[in-house]
Amino acid sequence: MENILEMRSIQKSFGHVKALSNVSMTVRRGEIHAVCGENGAGKSTLMKILSGVYPHGSYQGEVHYDGSVRAFASIQDSEAAGIIIIHQELALVPMLSITENLFLGGEKARYGVIDWESSHKAAQSVLRKVGLTESPDTAIGSLGIGKQQLVEIAKALSKDVRLLILDEPTASLNEKDSDTLLRLLLELKERGVTSIIISHKLNEISRVADAITVIRDGATVDAMDCHTQTVGEDRIIQAMVGREMADRYPKRTPNIGEPIFEVRDWHVDHPTQKNRTVIKGVNLVARRGEIVGIAGLMGSGRTELAMSLFGEAYGKKKKGVVRIKGREVDVSTVRKAIDCGMAYVTEDRKGNGLLLDEDIQKNISLANLAGVSRHGVLDEHQEFSVAADFLKKLRVRCQGVNHIVGNLSGGNQQKVVISKWLFSNPDVLILDEPTRGIDVGAKYEIYSIINQAVDAGKCVVMISSEMPELLGMCDRVYVMNEGRFVGELDAEEATQEKIMRAIMRNGEI
Ligand SMILES: Nc1ncnc2c1ncn2[C@@H]1O[C@H](COP(=O)(O)OP(=O)(O)O)[C@@H](O)[C@H]1O
Ligand SMILES: [Mg+2]
Repeated sequence: MENILEMRSIQKSFGHVKALSNVSMTVRRGEIHAVCGENGAGKSTLMKILSGVYPHGSYQGEVHYDGSVRAFASIQDSEAAGIIIIHQELALVPMLSITENLFLGGEKARYGVIDWESSHKAAQSVLRKVGLTESPDTAIGSLGIGKQQLVEIAKALSKDVRLLILDEPTASLNEKDSDTLLRLLLELKERGVTSIIISHKLNEISRVADAITVIRDGATVDAMDCHTQTVGEDRIIQAMVGREMADRYPKRTPNIGEPIFEVRDWHVDHPTQKNRTVIKGVNLVARRGEIVGIAGLMGSGRTELAMSLFGEAYGKKKKGVVRIKGREVDVSTVRKAIDCGMAYVTEDRKGNGLLLDEDIQKNISLANLAGVSRHGVLDEHQEFSVAADFLKKLRVRCQGVNHIVGNLSGGNQQKVVISKWLFSNPDVLILDEPTRGIDVGAKYEIYSIINQAVDAGKCVVMISSEMPELLGMCDRVYVMNEGRFVGELDAEEATQEKIMRAIMRNGEI
């Protein structure tokens, strides 16, 4: 098979940060090529060079594509050559229809007027190619993330794509949507489209990839051909983190004390639909020094439970009692919940946790300004040293406390969110999918932080869709299904099978 792409000795700096020091990669025509690496390794930067987002002249090294050296000056340039990139953050406009989004910028014009009739027809035909049956008039904002992702791919197909680049496309998709997307990739391969996919999900990579390039700290460290070599997850992980990972979960000797967080008979009604109860009589206890997990399928009510407890950010007509350290507390606003000693770290770093345009220092002090103020006046030196301290402890990869959070990689953003909430010194830390979309190395560091928090006498409630993570970290696991707790398992007895059985049988273990 001939090569469609060769990137040779690519280097790229941002100011004095060297994002890429020496990356090379070779992609054969018609294959699915996976790029792996820890957060911050340089994967997105490399793809932005390939697609002209960072134009020729802003990097060193050579891009050979389709038989010649290319010097793309813009995205339009690379698109004209058939290279289409779908970025980590989707770029669709929510208020506009599918048709409008598909042909935005390149509107099908006849005599200078957009021809809506032919646009509509063209939209229908590309939607069919990606398996969507929605009307092209549907507003993008009303589709789930999985379908929006498919619209992005449809958009790529409407532009005669030859090399499709997907930057962490499945990071925020559920299993079913991820599966649809991967099958579509395999179908496109049948039709001769080459693709490059960036993903942290090793099981997905093993399923679709023909070849894998691993990048670490801005340099290529391994290139594997999945057809001529046996490529196990261990080899990929070792290349990514640069060391053998005997254990994915740091060891902890639990030292569990009295109950700190108690929820009794908690009921929550749906915020808009009448007569629909979303949380149905949940009882939960978390003790000093304990990590308690909540397992369950998508839509089982785990996030709704956490949000309804944290400042009633979800739902209506709540019934039930919350006690912290034995005292009944009022958690009816986020402010009150924080003041009672609660903290809630969500999976949606952008939507909830962080101010992306602000620097690390500002973000960390946000939930506890009193902690960096004297007589009500902000002490910037204090704020600086608190932030610097967290960066060191949590090994955040950045230029310093003044690094703008929006420019950090996902894993490092997550460490900043966790720092922010740890600095608020909570008794109860609720973590909702704390490691989603994060590489194995950063995961390990986040697990270590969680262990330190419980060792310091806090209690942690951890919601996760990754069962091995719950089993590896928790002292006890509640199983949730359809708004109820349907099972409770101690760490020693818990297994994935038992959790699944509790879900399927709605309670019988
Ligand atoms: N626009 C930017 N300004 C400054 N630093 C950046 C910018 N984009 C990326 N970086 C830095 O370059 C490195 C690689 O980032 P990135 O390519 O996003 O990694 P990955 O996609 O592998 O997670 C990181 O250290 C990141 O902080
Ligand atoms: Mg990236």
